[in-house]
Amino acid sequence: MTTTLVDHTFRKDVKRCFENQTYAIPARWLYDLRGSELFEDITELPEYYPTRTETALLKENGSAFASAVGPKRAVIEFGSGSSTKTPHLLKAIDPAAYVPIDISGEFLEHSASLLQQEFPDLPIHPVEADFMKRVALPEAVADMPKLGFFPGSTIGNMIARTSVDLLRFMRETLGEGAQLLIGFDRIKEEQILVDAYDDSAGVTAQFSLNLLHRINRELDGDIAVDQFRHVAVWSDIYARIEIYLEAQSDMRFSIGENLYALSNGQRIHIENSHKYGLRDARLMLRAGGWTPLHEWSDEQDYFTLMLVEAHPYKHAP
Ligand code: TRP
Repeated sequence: MTTTLVDHTFRKDVKRCFENQTYAIPARWLYDLRGSELFEDITELPEYYPTRTETALLKENGSAFASAVGPKRAVIEFGSGSSTKTPHLLKAIDPAAYVPIDISGEFLEHSASLLQQEFPDLPIHPVEADFMKRVALPEAVADMPKLGFFPGSTIGNMIARTSVDLLRFMRETLGEGAQLLIGFDRIKEEQILVDAYDDSAGVTAQFSLNLLHRINRELDGDIAVDQFRHVAVWSDIYARIEIYLEAQSDMRFSIGENLYALSNGQRIHIENSHKYGLRDARLMLRAGGWTPLHEWSDEQDYFTLMLVEAHPYKHAP
């Protein structure tokens, strides 16, 4: 996206939060340059188990993927980002092509060229697009069997309705007969979940609070960031971690021309991270048109990779 467009949408989303008092800001604004660096740091924290658990699953189950998936598929990655998990999969399965899809064009070119060095013979066709809609795939992969790849439990950052919409769009993008390898973060002991989103070194808090710094930087704000705290709570009914920024005093601030007030204790909702039981995940996948084939979990059942297939729709009794 161009800078002015980002500017405009960011301003609109922040305005809605404080002016319409929705007290919610879309999580995508967490990932400016500083935010992306801090998130990289999060993935290395002792408390943040998801990245290392999923990466280990990808490394250890290569031959099982290869026999379940078969050779010569085009691998389509949704929201490829830095593509750090991709090499493990590509090494395991003898793919025919790789199509990373990401909304950030610069990021995409950069990580595609790094990957090309590691896999010099693999055709790579980056696509700059919003994967929350149907994506037109490159002509070169049109006739290849396809394997979607959606790691990171990114699906967990969407509410259930949006997740099912996305799964259906993926089915349209990839077509009947396609497979999808998708990561799910599992429901586990509450304290482990909360610690993963509120680490003792305070890196996650910095990551959240960077959103307020970003508002000050990019939208000409004067929010007293030190008057906020990062809050991570487990909601059992939604089976998710909810992340908030909470005002620690009554305050007034301006953003550009606009003046706002917040009361002590007011929370701003900035992220959800849903967790799943195996049956929850399977039901959601089926609701999105995908039939479960195989599952791989770590010893502690912290994280699961599921391989699913877009079977032709049948008449249900
Ligand atoms: N996709 C990550 C997750 O849900 C994002 C994330 C990790 C995050 N820690 C966070 C988002 C803290 C907001 C605040 O695991």
